[in-house]
Amino acid sequence: MKVDVLLGLQWGDEGKGKIVDVLAPNYDIVARFQGGPNAGHTLEFEGQKYVLRSIPSGVFQDGKINVIGNGATLDPALFKAEVEALEGSGHCLTDRLYISKKAHLILPTHRLLDAAYEAQKGNEKIGTTGKGIGPAYTDKVSRNGLRIGDLDHQFEEKYRNAVARHETLLRQMNFEYDLASLEKEWFEGIETVKRFQRIDSDHFFHKALAENKKILAEGAQGTMLDIDFGSYPFVTSSNTICAGACTGLGVPPSKIGEVFGVFKAYCTRVGSGPFPTELSDATGQLLRDRGREYGSVTGRPRRCGWIDLVALRYAIQIDGVTQLMMMKSDILDTFDTIKACVAYEIEEQEIEDFPFEINESVKPIYVELDGWKTDMTKMQSEEEFPEEFNAYLSFLEENLGINIKIVSVGPDREQTIIRYNNL
Ligand code: GDP
Ligand code: IMO
Ligand code: MG
Repeated sequence: MKVDVLLGLQWGDEGKGKIVDVLAPNYDIVARFQGGPNAGHTLEFEGQKYVLRSIPSGVFQDGKINVIGNGATLDPALFKAEVEALEGSGHCLTDRLYISKKAHLILPTHRLLDAAYEAQKGNEKIGTTGKGIGPAYTDKVSRNGLRIGDLDHQFEEKYRNAVARHETLLRQMNFEYDLASLEKEWFEGIETVKRFQRIDSDHFFHKALAENKKILAEGAQGTMLDIDFGSYPFVTSSNTICAGACTGLGVPPSKIGEVFGVFKAYCTRVGSGPFPTELSDATGQLLRDRGREYGSVTGRPRRCGWIDLVALRYAIQIDGVTQLMMMKSDILDTFDTIKACVAYEIEEQEIEDFPFEINESVKPIYVELDGWKTDMTKMQSEEEFPEEFNAYLSFLEENLGINIKIVSVGPDREQTIIRYNNL
């Protein structure tokens, strides 16, 4: 058996959580391999809506094991809140959620450092989620991080040393803070973490593969937020791309199977950074309103624009996507015409390959297609698709060079159309 990987292909919030939930019945194990509580993955079914941050989106399917992998970061305080919310709504997680001993901890001072670095950047700020992601990964890479496995070995001393180091940095930046209350909820969170099995996840995955178990790796963020290939420096601090699943779970590249690429029928972005197809006009507002494009956790309005096929082709290439999944098609249901950016104009040159840097001088070159002006939200099969929608799909498939396997026509689990059933 191989590990299938599901990834966001844009700037996050593509609808990954919904699709993992839809696909999870086909798998034995669902695993997160990077990121942390900067993620907000929304699932809707049976009239209920859930937002997951650190916990994999397979958690609502009975009998599935969910793993927080070594490449992920975990904030115990936020994890406790997430666990309590799920358990409060009747979803028992004990024995179904494992945490890698090699996953890194986000300390309360990482959150403070995140805020301090952002304040220092002023107008140049990244617009992070404020969850301490950057500082936690910085400590990992600089070999100063604390891991879940450290909880059992002189943890208090390691924690105090790390906090002392962070406090020196905070003082240097003249950043005012109150650590005591943050620490209290953090240590309460540690007790919640200790309720779960902390595993040697690398061995766990190798054994699972040897036993022919089916594994789905759930990406967080999106390819355009990848630390190496995204719109640097306006990116997150982990490898969100397919290769991240290998380092973030400890599985070899030869064990990667299908790569599911998830994208919205248009484009959104939260936080700062370039966004060539952004619409700051009434059309952008219409996308925001119809798509309810406000952060699932932070409530921040998401920036909206037309689909960017230059960036999408790049993401597909970097990730080695084998099947595409188009989300939120229904949001375009009322549009007379729909635009798709097929190339960029940079200094009077037409560019089809994603450039080193995208900035204000990049002008999108659009193709305009007819809208379908039909409510798609109740459709059950592709036979019902309007002609113009089929034309939009064919145009995208031809431009991107891959088939679109799933079309999502609403937030609910049921509003999902699988086009040819060989999943
Ligand atoms: P993720 O971070 O990739 O899991 O995506 P988010 O959950 O942050 O954002 C996607 C939002 O779109 C959520 O509110 C979903 O409930 C919603 N959603 C997902 N698919 C569809 C769809 O096909 N149509 C509509 N209208 N909403 C969708
Ligand atoms: P999901 O998994 C959308 C963005 C932030 C910011 C940048 C860096 O729900 O798709 P960070 O806190 O990671 O240091 O912020 O990345 N960002 C996301 N945008 N969806 C996400 O996750 C994101 N996680 C981080 O807005 O621009
Ligand atoms: Mg999200």
